[in-house]
Amino acid sequence: MNAAAKGDVHRVRELLDSGADHLYQDDKGQNALMLASMAGHDSVVEALLEAGTPWNALDKDGNCAGDLAMLAGHQSTANLLLEAGVRAEMVLGALERKLGKETAGPSHDYLQQRLQYDADSERLMDADDRAVMMAWEGPLMEAHAHAVAASGGDILNVGFGLGLVDEAIQRRRPRSHTIVEVHPDVHARMLQLGWHQRPGVRILFGRWQDVLPQLGAQFDGIFFDTYSEFYDDMQDFHVLLPRLLRPDGIYSFFHGLAADNAFFHAVYSEIVKREMASLGLSTQFVPLPINVTDPKIWEGVRNKYWQLDTSTACCLLGVEQ
Ligand SMILES: C[S@@+](CC[C@H](N)C(=O)[O-])C[C@H]1O[C@@H](n2cnc3c(N)ncnc32)[C@H](O)[C@@H]1O
Repeated sequence: MNAAAKGDVHRVRELLDSGADHLYQDDKGQNALMLASMAGHDSVVEALLEAGTPWNALDKDGNCAGDLAMLAGHQSTANLLLEAGVRAEMVLGALERKLGKETAGPSHDYLQQRLQYDADSERLMDADDRAVMMAWEGPLMEAHAHAVAASGGDILNVGFGLGLVDEAIQRRRPRSHTIVEVHPDVHARMLQLGWHQRPGVRILFGRWQDVLPQLGAQFDGIFFDTYSEFYDDMQDFHVLLPRLLRPDGIYSFFHGLAADNAFFHAVYSEIVKREMASLGLSTQFVPLPINVTDPKIWEGVRNKYWQLDTSTACCLLGVEQ
């Protein structure tokens, strides 16, 4: 660890060759990779990554080596760690997909649960006190709607929740507005609010996995924000994009991937960008300020699903063909 902190790459390599324990974390949870990263010693970081030191170990403050490199302003070190993270996660993801996933789409448990809208429509909660959607996301949804529906056209939204993004899409007077929603309680709420009677609105009740593949329509703007699904599911959705999106169409999604650590979040942003590129789509990230630090916001909520710093949060993704 001393050699790593000092940037003595020869000594580090010697120690690695003699079998030194490069996974060791001290009482602060720091390891050799973290010490090298916060000091910006790129050659040591490379040596440790080559030796298999995990890019994503956390210290006791919840920071990984990449967070520490960023905090200390060492961009080239952070880039090395980002590349290591992207490679590791993509290999892992490919492996998991090859082994086959057991389930797809929202859990049976979620679909069976009664959902509850609170009186002022600030929250949609499931039966286990987990928030499905919360009103603090309003400005975020406004920005997503602006990205996908600013020029009108035919718009698709997957996941109604509190209807925030759909209200924002409606304000932009789209030519048509298709909404896919699977939960019976949410669907009932949509009918109660008269969404099915709004001009140009079409509600498709069911899982997007079932209703979209056979839909012979194309869209100018698409937004995706589901619940109780995994990254795998979103990847399956992304594969449909080249067919669903018109040339020059815009796609955006709620980017809650790894939203409890800024560096992991950045790694997932890069993974999405590369996956989009493989589908022939180019990606642009728009950072938005989020302030969810007031503990009142999370009172009674079991899943604090956004924990990132306000101004560094990167949550809007637009994809252009
Ligand atoms: C986070 S909420 C969406 C919030 C919405 N963007 C808003 O602005 O209020 C997620 C919604 O996606 C729905 N959903 C989850 N999985 C789905 C699926 N496979 N197909 C269609 N809807 C799904 C949930 O029932 C829930 O209403």
